[in-house]
Amino acid sequence: MTIIPVALGERSYDVVIADGLLDQAGERLASYARGNRLIIISDVNVWAAQGERLIRALGGLEAVPIILPPGEGSKSWASLTALIDRLLALGVERSDHLIAFGGGVIGDLVGFAAAIVNRGCGFVQIPTSLLAQVDSSVGGKTAINVAAGKNLVGAFHQPSLVLIDPSCVATLDPREVRSGYAEIAKYALIEDAPFFDWLETNGAAVIAGEPAERRHAIATAVAGKARIVAEDERETSGKRALLNLGHTFGHSLEAETGFSDKLLHGEAVAAGIGLAFDFSVGRGLCAQADADRVRKHLSAIGLPASLAAATIAADGATLVAHMQVDKKKEGGRLAFILVRGIGQAFVDKRVDLDDVAAFLDRAQ
Ligand SMILES: NC(=O)c1ccc[n+]([C@@H]2O[C@H](COP(=O)([O-])OP(=O)(O)OC[C@H]3O[C@@H](n4cnc5c(N)ncnc54)[C@H](O)[C@@H]3O)[C@@H](O)[C@H]2O)c1
Ligand SMILES: [Zn+2]
Repeated sequence: MTIIPVALGERSYDVVIADGLLDQAGERLASYARGNRLIIISDVNVWAAQGERLIRALGGLEAVPIILPPGEGSKSWASLTALIDRLLALGVERSDHLIAFGGGVIGDLVGFAAAIVNRGCGFVQIPTSLLAQVDSSVGGKTAINVAAGKNLVGAFHQPSLVLIDPSCVATLDPREVRSGYAEIAKYALIEDAPFFDWLETNGAAVIAGEPAERRHAIATAVAGKARIVAEDERETSGKRALLNLGHTFGHSLEAETGFSDKLLHGEAVAAGIGLAFDFSVGRGLCAQADADRVRKHLSAIGLPASLAAATIAADGATLVAHMQVDKKKEGGRLAFILVRGIGQAFVDKRVDLDDVAAFLDRAQ
């Protein structure tokens, strides 16, 4: 069992990682129940795949399941208000803990509901998708999507505990597994070159679900995120912004494909990482060989690492226009995460968007 502390003063918590952890849910969650009762929020797919296992593990605890439709549609005002009404009808109190059992959609929605119901109650994350296990369940960003864009309304609200059972991912669609892998590669590329070397050798085993490799990859990514979040919880110093490597480019590709199944988040991030490396090469910051290595690895995993692989044909001006809606702006300027090489990402706030548009036109 691996325990990774997220050091945030009085908001500190542990991320516990172990195969079979879900089967210990009863003892792990007992102190978060009120009386005997635990409110568990999940989605239809996760509940069908893993719900019975969780219920069995709860033993004597009574589960009150709230099961929502799967997909980004559940990160909406409508589902948020319906969920809050349901929680209030159940008499949720500030000292209660909600259990978020699902992928990033459930984690983001439940985290936000927990941030605002009764001016805030606690919550526990039990992430079930690879993406949620390595990224969204840790760090306390919660959000819903609104008409103006994705994740534009939310709160920083840290969970009290994160329970990661890598074996849960066995029932996840393989394309979703690859999508989550993009975020694992992202950590390596930000500041852990030895981890990228390891991924080049072991990435296929991580994807295939080999337990030791999968666990190691998840734990390394979580430890990386925990370190960054502990340094810059609210993305003020610029450190946490590094986690957006591949995301500004990726976001524009997701917007271009209407945030649809055409391009999953991690797929857009993989292509965005490829673009961030190429753009950095073009500015003389990074060696071509590093960009080539990154693209080769992501492609070997089955991720699109270029505009062509992501089948995006839009011109640079269109893609840059999508970036403008990104919420990570400061004084109207976008911060780009560029690289000096593998494991050497940095924030550049002075990138000229015309340069980006011209680069994207050439990158077609
Ligand atoms: N808060 C953050 O820091 C942060 C970071 C990254 C991403 N996100 C958010 O996370 C969301 C994406 O998360 P995601 O990729 O987990 O999407 P998701 O929650 O939609 O899950 C993907 C699909 O897999 C299914 N699923 C999940 N676990 C399963 C399992 N074990 N077995 C079978 N099916 C399973 C879900 O029902 C869904 O259909 C986005 O909304 C994104 O904005 C948040
Ligand atoms: Zn991401």
